[in-house]
Amino acid sequence: MTSIRFDQQVAVVTGAGGGLGRTYALELAARGAAVVVNDLGGNISGDGAGTSMADSVVAEILAAGGKAVANYDSVADSKGADAIIQTALDKFGRVDIVINNAGNLRNAYIDKLSDDDIDSLHSVHLKGSLYVSRAAFHHMKQQGYGRILFTSSAAGVFGNPEQAAYAAAKAGMVGLTNVFGIEGEAHGIKTNTLLPMAASRMAEKMDPAQLQQFAELNATFGNALTPDYITPLVVYLVSRECEANKSIYSAVAGRFAKVVIGLTKGWLGPRDAPASVEDVAAHFADIEDQTVVDEPCSLVDELQIIAKHVRAE
Ligand code: NAI
Repeated sequence: MTSIRFDQQVAVVTGAGGGLGRTYALELAARGAAVVVNDLGGNISGDGAGTSMADSVVAEILAAGGKAVANYDSVADSKGADAIIQTALDKFGRVDIVINNAGNLRNAYIDKLSDDDIDSLHSVHLKGSLYVSRAAFHHMKQQGYGRILFTSSAAGVFGNPEQAAYAAAKAGMVGLTNVFGIEGEAHGIKTNTLLPMAASRMAEKMDPAQLQQFAELNATFGNALTPDYITPLVVYLVSRECEANKSIYSAVAGRFAKVVIGLTKGWLGPRDAPASVEDVAAHFADIEDQTVVDEPCSLVDELQIIAKHVRAE
């Protein structure tokens, strides 16, 4: 098997000063990529800033003979996001890969979530990912090549208590992936989303009961709930070799899987008038029936799938 390399390619990894992002940056650099190591350097809540986190990862890459430069801008600020991509262009002349990994965490039950928590989580995760990827998309379109990865979460796609704002922002990655995937396809740009799970400072925010479950499952997985067990899928997804687009993947403890969003065949109401509420109640089991499940690949595709079922009635 030929090894997967990134020579002459430039990667931007946001939030790469620790946790998951650090392992992505190190692996990409080890495989020849020049890496922009972005990190705001604040605390887990997203407050504060500093240069030491990004600097230490850059130092690791340089010590191993790789190419890297640090950037300390916040992804949550659109000018900062532009500056992150500009750093790649100024230092290395192009941008081929963007891994949107930067993130903060503020857990609170729904009725305890403050406006500031909601704004902060949405600014960093949702707006931040869009700002950085938008800035890169322009250059990727011009060069006819790009790989973008968004970082979602099982909290966003499957749910988790105390994370309403975080989960909503993370579910937004699915929307970003769908539209970047559709608009990028004709320009050689592939976009996907990852749901990772690994021990990092973020996992420390779990409540004690979840932490206990996490520890027990980690033991079952042979203590493989670590960032380096996530990295192989991430690096493959942003490689030239990977043709996947507009897809969602889960990586946990060395188990890699695709996440699918399906549409049941559903129940078709009368054509001559809208169904009554009672009709819907009477056919709710048909609406829920998962015997036939389609996976529409766009809004129009959903309409075409419905039309196919209508014609078959
Ligand atoms: P981490 O806290 O170790 O890493 C996040 C990094 O992002 C930090 O180094 C932080 O300084 C940086 N950052 C925060 N706000 C920033 C901003 N505005 N601009 C630039 N950098 C900023 O956490 P971890 O676990 O490595 O998380 C990485 C990503 O994976 C996050 O997006 C997180 O939401 C996601 N994730 C992690 C899971 C896990 O199990 N660790 C589960 C699901 C998703």
